[in-house]
Amino acid sequence: MKPVCVIVGPPGSGKSTVGAALAERLGVAFRDTDLDIEALAGKPIPEIFIDEGEDHFRALERQAVADALNGHEGVLALGGGAVLAEATRALLDEHRVVFLNVGLSDAVRRVGLGAGRPLLEMNPRATLKVLMDQRLPLYRSVASVTVETDDCDPAGIVDELLAHVGERPVRVSFGDYDAVIGRDLWSQVPSYLTGAAQAAILHTAHLAERAAALAVAVADAGVRPLLTEVPDAEAAKSVEVAAACWDRLAEAGFTRTDVVIGLGGGAVTDLAGFVAATWLRGVRVVHLPTSLLGMVDAAIGGKTGVNVAAGKNLVGAFHPPAAVLCDLSTLDSLPPADLAAGLAEVVKCGFIADPEILRRTETDPKAALTADSPLLADIAARAVKVKADVVTEDLRESGRRAFLNYGHTFAHAIEKVENYTWRHGDAVAVGMVYAAHLGRLTGRVDVVDRTVAVLESLGLPTRYEAGKFDELLAAMRVDKKSVGATMRFVLLDEIGSPSLVDDVTEEQLRTAYAEVSST
Ligand SMILES: NC(=O)c1ccc[n+]([C@@H]2O[C@H](COP(=O)([O-])OP(=O)(O)OC[C@H]3O[C@@H](n4cnc5c(N)ncnc54)[C@H](O)[C@@H]3O)[C@@H](O)[C@H]2O)c1
Repeated sequence: MKPVCVIVGPPGSGKSTVGAALAERLGVAFRDTDLDIEALAGKPIPEIFIDEGEDHFRALERQAVADALNGHEGVLALGGGAVLAEATRALLDEHRVVFLNVGLSDAVRRVGLGAGRPLLEMNPRATLKVLMDQRLPLYRSVASVTVETDDCDPAGIVDELLAHVGERPVRVSFGDYDAVIGRDLWSQVPSYLTGAAQAAILHTAHLAERAAALAVAVADAGVRPLLTEVPDAEAAKSVEVAAACWDRLAEAGFTRTDVVIGLGGGAVTDLAGFVAATWLRGVRVVHLPTSLLGMVDAAIGGKTGVNVAAGKNLVGAFHPPAAVLCDLSTLDSLPPADLAAGLAEVVKCGFIADPEILRRTETDPKAALTADSPLLADIAARAVKVKADVVTEDLRESGRRAFLNYGHTFAHAIEKVENYTWRHGDAVAVGMVYAAHLGRLTGRVDVVDRTVAVLESLGLPTRYEAGKFDELLAAMRVDKKSVGATMRFVLLDEIGSPSLVDDVTEEQLRTAYAEVSST
């Protein structure tokens, strides 16, 4: 066991703040050897200095650092003077060490002129200067990476560190299966093919090259790949295409222990799940979603389906996958408008359960729209966790799954009225604005301005054309959440606290529509 990285630097360089934030982003634990020493000694560090002297403190520190280097798997911050010990510097040779550098003025400002730091109590600026002059060469000698922190906020420093340390895959449990969010994950596919003689890889023409590369990895694992190209987008989700896939499986002699792999956007994973659910009454399916919407919504949760003449997703089955590998590197080729549409579902997770998603997106919408940014990886993983929490709790009958449909009643109505020519995420964006108006009109939390602002910052639509209320109302009446003649909406009591509401009046529905359709 080794730390992901070890952070060193002078007092005021931000080791604790940055270390904790980095650990959170990586989904690992944070440890600070100063806290270990205090726990061991049973008193704060200044008291150790006063009662036993600096030599005793340094001995405790050497031991604490050696223990942590040997037993901690997450991010580790060392006290400012830990590098003074030659034995410690020798141990650091085998580790990835990040040196957070800071200029004297910023350091003095950040340490608050010596509060709680025994070596800085007397004349902080002068003392800090001596300390830094003495220690800077030592920090540099152990560092694998140096990051300058002057005039930088912790979030920016964490982003820079992530580029060095690398994102680690985040694993989210859905009970019977895991979703993994990270980069270059497909090498893991063979581990989900145990016992299979064949794996049918359903993919579209867009992703033929990636599918071919996957087929090689599958073949290398001793499993026969069946590359199966299907039409793009919604055209994949038909009974005819499913039947063509069944024919292919039949020809290949596909058995119960074989595996279907859905490689593509939500349309392909919905189809692949449906084919797997129905072939021989159910074979394993592994989803490799390649759109953001697929990663944070369609491929996780176990719903599969195809469209029929009477409507979208009317035929399908619950068929949980064996695994979902959300390989963020595939997003590089996703058209920007599809990436933004996926972000609508991510933002939705922020409103219904994890306000941190909203804050992070609002802080840097440009990074959210950048396929390879650490911020996108972070908020996507958070959205997957929100869905996992809701779905796994719902299996215990709590009924919370409906909350995932925040903004969806109006969104489904738009999709229907527009004959499914709108991107789902775009419709969800407008639907969230509509739900926000309904929330305000029914005396709940007012998130209208915040909703519009965050969606507009992502280039998502927030308005819908006027003059279509009757059509939209008719479509909303047959929404899946409706019970008989009663329409139900997910509305926010507070951000992160949704409820299912069935007493919205037609007048309120009309007024909310007037708001989203006014110019
Ligand atoms: N099962 C569920 O719980 C669930 C939930 C939400 C949505 N859905 C379904 O998901 C579908 C929408 O998913 P979507 O938005 O991913 O649409 P999609 O699958 O149609 O993909 C959108 C477009 O992006 C392309 N694409 C996907 N990944 C790409 C990549 N990496 N590089 C280049 N192009 C790429 C696709 O070929 C397509 O043209 C709908 O059918 C919807 O009903 C299902």
